[in-house]
Amino acid sequence: MDAQTTYNYKVVRQFTIMTVVWGIVGMAVGVLIAAQLVWPALNFDLPFLTYSRLRPLHTNAVIFAFGGCALFATSLYVVQRTCQTRLFSDGLAAFVFWGWQLIIVLAALTLPFGITSGKEYAELEWPIDILIAVVWIAYAILFFGTIMKRRTPHIYVANWFYGAFILTVALLHVVNSAELPVSLTKSYSVYPGAIDAMVQWWYGHNAVGFFLTAGFLGMMY
Ligand code: HEM
Repeated sequence: MDAQTTYNYKVVRQFTIMTVVWGIVGMAVGVLIAAQLVWPALNFDLPFLTYSRLRPLHTNAVIFAFGGCALFATSLYVVQRTCQTRLFSDGLAAFVFWGWQLIIVLAALTLPFGITSGKEYAELEWPIDILIAVVWIAYAILFFGTIMKRRTPHIYVANWFYGAFILTVALLHVVNSAELPVSLTKSYSVYPGAIDAMVQWWYGHNAVGFFLTAGFLGMMY
């Protein structure tokens, strides 16, 4: 069998294409909010075009949609090639791809409409938080399941970085997003004031450390 049939390149291709698409969308929103800092009238007095609502859309789009798709694409390519085996499950791979795209679309709809938990880089409301946890766990099973069935004796260094990124982001997201729903679109953090601030920036700082650093170091290797 050749590489095309041995490996699941479909999900890698899908995530690669969406990396480019979300990169263009996220940076276009960045250009708009940058322009609004110079010409505030560019919000056209429309609530969903105000700087305060589009800024989190920009940060979420470039970090989790653009950066996230790049991390999914490369990790799922690297884990197959360095373990010399196909992904653990094609069905799970499709679920991770479509699940992540759904999360991004929900983010792009809710944030401009002002639906937010107000925690920077964790703005999405509780139903989306649950969806993120489910998709992320599926990703972890897919990635580590592939490592388990590897046909090489060792685990290549890039996979340790990707593995650390996957586990740490799961922990950060679950702990920081612990919240009490009061309606479908509104929740309150389970942590009281000062503790909430500490948990939030334990999350925020380590999200940069692991989502934007450890995962990308895996890509570099
Ligand atoms: C065309 C490219 C881009 C433009 C025009 C742009 C524009 C902006 C603007 C205007 C802000 C808000 C600054 C403020 O509130 O003072 C911002 C914040 C931010 N952008 Fe971008 N951006 C671009 C690309 C990116 C990319 C590629 C990433 C990461 C993958 C990124 C990540 C962020 C982050 C993390 C923040 C928040 C920074 C903070 O609060 O200190 N941006 N961007």
